[in-house]
Amino acid sequence: MAFPATRLRRLRRTETLRALVRETRLTPESLVYPLFVCPGTRIRKEVRSMPGVFNLSIDEAVKEVRATRALGVSSIILFGLPEKKDEVATGAWAKDGIVQRAARAIKSEVRDVVVMGDVCLCEYMSHGHCGIVKVNDKAGPQSLGAAAAVPPAAAEYEIVNDASLELLARTSVSLARSGVDVIAPSDMMDGRVGAIRRALDDAGFENTPILSYAAKFSSGFYGPFREAAHSAPQFGDRRSYQMDPANVREAMREIELDIEEGADMIMVKPAMPYLDVIAAARARFDLPLAAYQVSGEYAMIEAAARNQWIDRERVMMESLVCIRRAGASIILTYYAKEAAKLLA
Ligand code: PBG
Repeated sequence: MAFPATRLRRLRRTETLRALVRETRLTPESLVYPLFVCPGTRIRKEVRSMPGVFNLSIDEAVKEVRATRALGVSSIILFGLPEKKDEVATGAWAKDGIVQRAARAIKSEVRDVVVMGDVCLCEYMSHGHCGIVKVNDKAGPQSLGAAAAVPPAAAEYEIVNDASLELLARTSVSLARSGVDVIAPSDMMDGRVGAIRRALDDAGFENTPILSYAAKFSSGFYGPFREAAHSAPQFGDRRSYQMDPANVREAMREIELDIEEGADMIMVKPAMPYLDVIAAARARFDLPLAAYQVSGEYAMIEAAARNQWIDRERVMMESLVCIRRAGASIILTYYAKEAAKLLA
């Protein structure tokens, strides 16, 4: 039946009618709030390229989590800014690492919060890459020193996969021991989900789930994050381990492999420029699916809103609803707290 019998505008007339037929809804429980934890006390340092996002000392992070929890957002994900960086990412797996300490404080002071731990080495490595770097010169492979004077050319260095797995597994176990509820590897080494699963099980954490950043693209949209987490690579880029933005079929293979290796939940990242990847993953896999609305997506909305070029709240909520409509059931977003306020 076509027009005039059919008029789709009939159900758009009032907000009550629109709400009645709305297909997609946001709920605070499905949002995950990222936090950047730094050493010190009473520190709340705004990230220049991410207005409204802060580097927080542990005491401030606890307060932030309490406030977030009160708004109905029950999950957070922790990133750490360590005191020191080195070539084996000691700060990532040390018992008294910054995230380990933050997790213990948050778990002991806030009830019913799901603490996720981002597992990656870039924030803790002097060179800022997500795995161990080997320089291949005539003397044979050697580890790259912290103060390599000249950045090696692409042909001369390599982010080694298999040796990095041990550090990622060690980091995961250390986080689980500190009370982290969900292990979320974001490094994009091959085989890391399996390595982490085995290490967690061996250490008695067979009930700790893994949220895999399964399809993580090598994206310019991570720019502001690297300022927030002090994790920019000191040379080269991440294209040899993160995915090519052009590939959706390969994304399905990445996800499939992570599921085979034992992932409990999967993620697509970034979110808005990759809605087709989210939709394809939703159609194909039955695991809970997360999407990460990354720092650059946030920064763009903030910058345009500051210029009064867009309506900030409206675009914020629209972006989140659209990520959900594409098929993500969980959204990691710097807007978690503010969106929850508007949903209340
Ligand atoms: C760590 C990591 C990154 C992000 C999450 N985990 C940065 C990167 O891969 O360079 C990006 C998150 C964001 O941009 O908000 N590897």
